Amino acid sequence: MDNVESAIQTRRTAKKQSTAMEAELLKLGNTIVTKFHVLMRISQIYDSKNTALEQFVQESLQTINQWIKMQGVLSILVDNELFLNGERLRYSVEGFTSFKYLLTHWRKKRIGEVVVKSLVDETTLKEFIYGLMSLEDGRENNAELLSELLVNRGITSIEVNPLEVLEGEEDTITYYLVDQQKVAQRVFFETIGTMKEVITNIKGKQYADVRKLKRLAQKAVHLIVEDESIMLGMATIKNYDEYTFNHSVNVAIYALAIGKRLGFSRKIMTELGITALLHDIGKSKIPREVLTKAGPLDEGEWGMMKKHPLLGVEIALNLKQLGEINPRMVIGIFDHHLNNDLSGYPKLFRKKELGLFGRIIQIADSYDAMTTAKIYKKNPYTPEQSLAIMLRERVIHFDPLLLKILIGVVGIYPIGSLVLLDTHELGIIYKPNPDPKWMDRPRVILVEWHEKKDVKKELVDLTETDSPNHFKRTITKTLDPNKYHIDIAKYFLPS
Ligand SMILES: [Fe+2]
Ligand SMILES: [Fe+2]
Repeated sequence: MDNVESAIQTRRTAKKQSTAMEAELLKLGNTIVTKFHVLMRISQIYDSKNTALEQFVQESLQTINQWIKMQGVLSILVDNELFLNGERLRYSVEGFTSFKYLLTHWRKKRIGEVVVKSLVDETTLKEFIYGLMSLEDGRENNAELLSELLVNRGITSIEVNPLEVLEGEEDTITYYLVDQQKVAQRVFFETIGTMKEVITNIKGKQYADVRKLKRLAQKAVHLIVEDESIMLGMATIKNYDEYTFNHSVNVAIYALAIGKRLGFSRKIMTELGITALLHDIGKSKIPREVLTKAGPLDEGEWGMMKKHPLLGVEIALNLKQLGEINPRMVIGIFDHHLNNDLSGYPKLFRKKELGLFGRIIQIADSYDAMTTAKIYKKNPYTPEQSLAIMLRERVIHFDPLLLKILIGVVGIYPIGSLVLLDTHELGIIYKPNPDPKWMDRPRVILVEWHEKKDVKKELVDLTETDSPNHFKRTITKTLDPNKYHIDIAKYFLPS
């Protein structure tokens, strides 16, 4: 009897211990997934040498190595679910976003399994993360490329295996990419339409539905957080006839891409998006002749124009759904032409500190205005020229740090730039290279230009090599699309 009882007792203790162990592993597994999620995200903001990364990398290493010490190996497998060392990971409520992120992004990159075979150090982890994020979505041999990269760097502790795609499932991955573009396009044009409605209603002193704008801003925030290059591509559509509506949507896109890099929460991003959409709402009270005048404005007209930030504040405060508009947003509208040294307008009686929203919007606003054709300026500046001018004027006009961020957003070769390659081909910058090391090697649409007509040829990756150590194509200089009569925007609209 005694023996039986003690046997049961031992078994109970053993069971308790194993449940405790399971719980610990489960917690650790969830933490690992969160760490990978954050590492992937911050690697898109900072380059691998940035000190801001240090602490987080250290914490991540600790978690990963703790697992390795307990289990000997860490395998993360992506299927329809996540598996850690062969066990399906039950995610915690807090872990859900990370779980989803890893699942979606690894699938998109066609990475099926990552096996960490022994303890890892800082360099290994960074090489892996930056290598992973530099992989182009949907490319079939990504796992092979990443493995090769790791081996080249002398890393043998991490193994990467491709995603196993079952027959019939093939389409869902490419589908996802096309889908994102379609969704982005819908949100973009719906927002332009809604801006039109809001402005018409304000002019006619009718009820303007700001909640609809909020819903669209939320969608835009989501799209920009997921993959900003699609939305940034949309912002190259500079519709000359509907400047006001189009402009405000473009400003919102640039502002949100800056906000993302500043680490804003989705809630603050949404507020920033709405503020950017409404920044010029005051112009709805300015006579059309003044707004669309082809020549320079006379003193009286200019005086009227300068009133638009204040008029905007008035309108924003009068909007019915006050719950949707808070002081931060109103101040953003007020500040957007004040300039970094407060030399702009409206004239202030007392010095004040510029709000962050206003500073961001001013930069987004100037960049979009400079790159767009207007009635009085048929040939706008190229993205590159605009950035150069803004850099020159930074002390007076712009917050230098935010300007630097904008340059990071649009890249050294901003999306939509026309470039000449060393192969004498013409190309349009389509998507920046996510690896900061390869900033000068984005993805480019090759364009055939013949008798003043341009036709899309193919999408190429400038990191492609034709022999070891030799790139197939390299950018030699940027060109002015106006001189070639190339309509850049059409390349960003899905056919
Ligand atoms: Fe303005
Ligand atoms: Fe503006």
